[in-house]
Amino acid sequence: MALTMVEIPEQKLYDGNRFPAVISPTPTPAAAATPRLTETIQANKQYIQDQLLKSGAVLFRGFPVNTASDFNDVVEAFGYEENPYVGTAPRTKIVGRVFTANEAPPDHKIPFHHEMVLYPEFPSKLLFFCEIEPVSGGETPIVLSHIVYERMKDKHPQFVQKLEEHGLIYTKVLGQDYDPSSAMGRGWKSTFGTEDKNIAEQRAAKLGYVLEWLDDGVKTIRGPIPGIKCDSSTRQRKVWFNNIMAVYLGWKDDARNSDPEKALAFGDGSPLAADVIYDCQKILEDESVAIPWRKGDVLLLDNMAVLHSRNPCTTPRRVLASLCK
Ligand code: FE2
Repeated sequence: MALTMVEIPEQKLYDGNRFPAVISPTPTPAAAATPRLTETIQANKQYIQDQLLKSGAVLFRGFPVNTASDFNDVVEAFGYEENPYVGTAPRTKIVGRVFTANEAPPDHKIPFHHEMVLYPEFPSKLLFFCEIEPVSGGETPIVLSHIVYERMKDKHPQFVQKLEEHGLIYTKVLGQDYDPSSAMGRGWKSTFGTEDKNIAEQRAAKLGYVLEWLDDGVKTIRGPIPGIKCDSSTRQRKVWFNNIMAVYLGWKDDARNSDPEKALAFGDGSPLAADVIYDCQKILEDESVAIPWRKGDVLLLDNMAVLHSRNPCTTPRRVLASLCK
């Protein structure tokens, strides 16, 4: 089978499953080449799929994946359909289905989130690849979303009940153009791929939100959108599936989005208590696993089962990403 499940110290254990599952090549005789990850995937598709379902995340470590193009081959080997990116994070296409991960300034921490949680169609799987490992920091911490839901329900039952009943309304201000100083990055022209306000409105409507034009940008209003979802895979678990952390801790830039409390409300218009949000942040940190990247690592995430974030880092660091249906 040419692959081995390995244990690393950072893993956590949930219901007897290691999180994340870590797969390495089975050691080969000295003269033999290490098996390629593409071939390993093709020969073990069902096994890997089972691991992903059990664990929520699979890290492939020790395979000879060296370049963006190698990673693109790995992405293709899984055979998942591509999910186009339509969010506002700054990303650059590198090759084939491979993009840079969010290029927000390296000293920023990117809060925990699911990818494209605010869109009607979001990727079901994410793939990351470490091309240049950072000297320090820059991990991509991950956390199991159903655990966050369960712990929040225990500690803040009323908050969670309100979230389940009403969902959330998200309000965000986008500038005209790309702002490299902001983790929010792209302005409305780049986000909607047009300079025409009418076309922008049509494209926004297709993504389920409305626009209110301002002198120097646009206010986007989305929702109510459910804040808790039922994982549609065989697990049928309730998962924390919203953008509260990214909005509260990340939708900040000097000029436009300085007040996170205006950016987020329950579906009935009432505000979210800040102390509950900070408590949730503690739970996320507490349950998360942050594995230092090694060059060649490939991380496969179930986007519904797992939240991810990015720790601040020293540069250079290059982690590439691909989104799948
Ligand atoms: Fe992300």
